[in-house]
Amino acid sequence: MVRKAPPHTKIMIRQQAIQRRVRRMARSIERDFPGERVHLIGVLKGACIFLSDLIRELRMEVSVDFMAVSSYGKGHQSSGQVRLNKDLDSSIEGLNVILVEDILDTGLTLSYLYRVLQQRKPRQLRIAALLDKPSRRIKQVKADYIGFEIPNEFVVGYGLDYAERYRNLKDICILSLPSPH
Ligand code: IMP
Ligand code: MG
Repeated sequence: MVRKAPPHTKIMIRQQAIQRRVRRMARSIERDFPGERVHLIGVLKGACIFLSDLIRELRMEVSVDFMAVSSYGKGHQSSGQVRLNKDLDSSIEGLNVILVEDILDTGLTLSYLYRVLQQRKPRQLRIAALLDKPSRRIKQVKADYIGFEIPNEFVVGYGLDYAERYRNLKDICILSLPSPH
């Protein structure tokens, strides 16, 4: 059955295409760390769905931890500042760390997190981002694993929210709210 998008949303990337892409990202990670363990760090809350799909595709030793940051307020606009709301549970020293994020937009969040984590002496530090909006970049950050490069549209679903809503959509959808005027 072809699913219809909820009001004010339009499907950009369907569930099936996401699944296929996540599987291929897992294959790249396996190739890059043969016989080794990777430590995935999910950035809450947006990355939770991507991370939970990604770990189940990885045929290797995996451990998981989470961080929570806030950079966006309740709406579309970034405040430009990143705050660490939840730190890791355990040390990452000497580990092959992959920072798992839903979307790389301005790059402010990931450049901040990258700096914080790099100081803790991981063996390797890489970035996996499901989505990349290169046209919005303010801080230069490059992800090692990217799911989809997308144009400058505000998207929701598959973990991504607008004011905490829409995270449960199975597809990634463009959100166009009616203008208040
Ligand atoms: P950055 O710091 O601007 O790169 O933004 C990263 C964070 O902003 C992401 O983790 C998302 O939570 C949020 N974000 C950026 N673009 C979108 C979008 O299109 N939809 C939903 N959240 C977004
Ligand atoms: Mg996020």
